Amino acid sequence: MIGVVTLDEFIIQRQEEFQYAKGELSRLLRDIGLAAKIVNREVNKAGLVDILGTTGTTNVQGEDVKKLDVFANKRFIAALKLGGECCGIASEENEDLIIIQDEISKDAKYVVALDPLDGSSNIDVNVSVGTIFSIYRRVSSSGPCTLEDFLQKGSEQAAAGYIVYGSSTMLVYTTGFGVNGFTLDPSIGEFCLSHPDMCIPKAGKIYSINQGNFISFTEGVKEYVRYCKQEDKATNRPYSLRYIGSLVADVHRNLISGGIFIYPATKDAPRGKLRMLYECNPMSFIAEQAGGRATDGFRRILDIEQKELHQRTPIFIGSEEMVLKAEEFMKKYSS
Ligand code: AHG
Ligand code: MN
Ligand code: MN
Repeated sequence: MIGVVTLDEFIIQRQEEFQYAKGELSRLLRDIGLAAKIVNREVNKAGLVDILGTTGTTNVQGEDVKKLDVFANKRFIAALKLGGECCGIASEENEDLIIIQDEISKDAKYVVALDPLDGSSNIDVNVSVGTIFSIYRRVSSSGPCTLEDFLQKGSEQAAAGYIVYGSSTMLVYTTGFGVNGFTLDPSIGEFCLSHPDMCIPKAGKIYSINQGNFISFTEGVKEYVRYCKQEDKATNRPYSLRYIGSLVADVHRNLISGGIFIYPATKDAPRGKLRMLYECNPMSFIAEQAGGRATDGFRRILDIEQKELHQRTPIFIGSEEMVLKAEEFMKKYSS
């Protein structure tokens, strides 16, 4: 395996860049990598083992909880508890914080926000799904972690990343020094550096939005969608519409090929559907670190105050020029 750099080796190499790092963040990232391999094994077997379908329960979001949501949630929580580098977890699948109080974790420096299985509606139809994580340094001094440790702006993230369980399984993350992608090589069970220093093209030809909600979009979003569909060779329009229905897969595609993903306010989701803490903030940190842009149509996502754990926001994320163009329409047509 000449020239293969595994995730673990890369994390250790890069740790030298952090003058005062004592390895906690490195170990935390490696704990996440381990959980990702375990979840990947189950995702790849979905259909053979009893993890398809719903559990018959709904989560705090009022959404059907799929068996794989529960499995992934348990695996990541277990790996983070065992690793000892995290003193608390906020998960999409848990209404309240998971406070980790055992001896080795209670004074840990970091907290983790988690969407253990993103794109749940795609599990049973064998379409790419993902996991999203966001890591903050705790702001509380010691003892049990508090809500304030999680209600920090996205700009305070220490690290963020996602795993996309697709045609291959990739882990992509940033600690604020660029974005790097690793592809899982099942033959050696390691994530190997495959996409060093990922940069999103400044413009693209793909727009990604659930046009089924068109009627309830605001005028600015409607006008931008009409702009995407207009014929104009000079600006590569009409764009192509690609919508997978898994945030991780849609954003990952745009990160590589260029494009814009929009989940705006709709009638059913007046403040947008996607959650700031474990979907919008981590994906926005990654997009910005890759040279892209992420706003709610008006404000930088990473600057928005986090007031509630499962707070939602509209999101416009992807190639910088495309997000700026969409914002022009939002501004022009905002009543
Ligand atoms: P999750 O499965 O974690 O609830 O996330 C699903 C999200 C996101 O992945 C995707 O972009 C969006 O829901 C799709 O929503 P619609 O089906 O309403 O378009
Ligand atoms: Mn999600
Ligand atoms: Mn989810």
